[in-house]
Amino acid sequence: MSKIQELHSKIATAQLGGGQTRIDSQHKKGKLTARERLQLLLDEGSFEELGMFVHNRNKGLTTEQEQFPGDGVVTGYGTINGRLVYVFSQDFTVYGGSLSEPHAQKICRIMDLAMENGAPVIGLNDSGGARIQEGVVSLGGYADIFYRNTRASGVIPQISAIMGPCAGGAVYSPAITDFILMVENTSYMFVTGPNVVKTVTHEEVTSEALGGAQTHATKSGVTHFACSNEVACIQNIKQLLSYMPQNCEDAAPVYPYEPGNETRPSLNNMIPENPNQPYDMKEVIAELTDTDSFLEVHKDFADNIIVGFARIAGRSIGIVANQPAVLAGVLDIHASVKGARFTRFCDAFNIPLLVLVDVPGFLPGTDQEWNGIITNGAKLLFALSEATVPKITVTTRKAYGGAYCVMNSKHIGADLNFAFPQAEIAVMGPKGAVEIIYKKEIDSAPDPAARMNELVADYTERFANPYLAAEKGYIDEVVTPEETRSKLIKGYKMLENKVVNLPRKKHGNIPL
Ligand code: HXC
Repeated sequence: MSKIQELHSKIATAQLGGGQTRIDSQHKKGKLTARERLQLLLDEGSFEELGMFVHNRNKGLTTEQEQFPGDGVVTGYGTINGRLVYVFSQDFTVYGGSLSEPHAQKICRIMDLAMENGAPVIGLNDSGGARIQEGVVSLGGYADIFYRNTRASGVIPQISAIMGPCAGGAVYSPAITDFILMVENTSYMFVTGPNVVKTVTHEEVTSEALGGAQTHATKSGVTHFACSNEVACIQNIKQLLSYMPQNCEDAAPVYPYEPGNETRPSLNNMIPENPNQPYDMKEVIAELTDTDSFLEVHKDFADNIIVGFARIAGRSIGIVANQPAVLAGVLDIHASVKGARFTRFCDAFNIPLLVLVDVPGFLPGTDQEWNGIITNGAKLLFALSEATVPKITVTTRKAYGGAYCVMNSKHIGADLNFAFPQAEIAVMGPKGAVEIIYKKEIDSAPDPAARMNELVADYTERFANPYLAAEKGYIDEVVTPEETRSKLIKGYKMLENKVVNLPRKKHGNIPL
């Protein structure tokens, strides 16, 4: 056999991973192989593999480990829509994708390259966890990865797709990255699996219920996207990347945009006259942003707040918006954390923010107080205050109490604050306010209910409007809803060279 033939034969062996039988078994589970996933993810012919022949020379704890070239992970670089990305894809056909010392070293190597060259890292996870044969060496490998994830946070975008098991300490690498995507029915994430749960807490729970995609998309918020299958998951990754820059010193890609008539008359009728009637803020978002450009993040978690990426005149923005259609758009613990985390991603990666406000306040109750709405609500306040990207606020209706301050008010650094004429910006809603300040007068009135109604009407007239805030300069402009998109286009253009120099510090201390 010639040397070149020998190389081809070695490559062919490596490409089979753990062998055809295990590939067939992977397919039978409805899963693609590590290499098939990369083929779908990267531009055709762009993948360059590094470390294909890495072997595991470690002596196992029990027996010598059988050798598989690549050792359970395919690593390298390629492009997505022409943009450089670094990738690793765990190969379940080799020891269940479990992480050995060389496997970890391969992942670390591409993370180091990604940091040095300022490009995103995408990890496709499908692994039985630490390579049991290797003991502590494998744990060390995980820690090496966690350390790099942390160092890379805020420098390059990091995306984790979970396409199979991801259990034990292994979950903490995805958890540190910016976005997690999970595939429904074939992936799960948990720190301890159903058997340990049963032993310790006597709960009976399936893997799917404990840590499947739906669980983490709706209950824990661990995953940002639950995807119906692997192909949808990979498409989702590509779309997500399209809003992001390559690194923290870069700007997000600008998409072609033809200026046209930016007036959106339908917005004029979108906010109901009755302040207690809900409406769907996503319809407002659809009108304000470029057609079909909105990608919602964390769609099924804390849906009283909406976060996601969109484009305005071809440029990426991040949206944080109260959702009056769910719990009247109230801020609670989960909504605050969801909004804060998204805000910090946008700020780290130079993506301007749009904050849409219709919020009656923070959710009252022992559950919220005992679980720390104070600390958690402060996260959103802190994140929006510290963000230095262009920040524009549109108050569509209510902005009451502390939630007014938190939702990107002028006072915490918003660059432009617009309000619709329907806006109500005050310490509290008319009924609550009147009940407190006119309590004696109402109680002693001949017809308390009638007096109450009169006072509520008077308060609404005098305080539940945007004009007092506009008089103070807290609102820059009261705008007709239909002209808002045009105002946003001009506003972001005006702010595109914004520079803010922060006080020198090591890092802030966001209330965790
Ligand atoms: C070595 C492993 C492995 C592991 C699976 N395999 N997990 N080899 N180390 N951790 C091997 C199996 O022996 C098998 O080899 C092949 O991978 C496929 O596994 P199956 O069990 O046949 O697949 P499936 O039925 O789909 O079950 C997948 C699984 C299960 C649920 C992941 O394999 C499993 O429970 N594995 C152990 C998980 C675990 O306890 N990991 C350690 C957690 S502690 P063959 O040769 O038959 O193909 C941990 C700590 C991390 O991860 C701490 C970081 C700080």
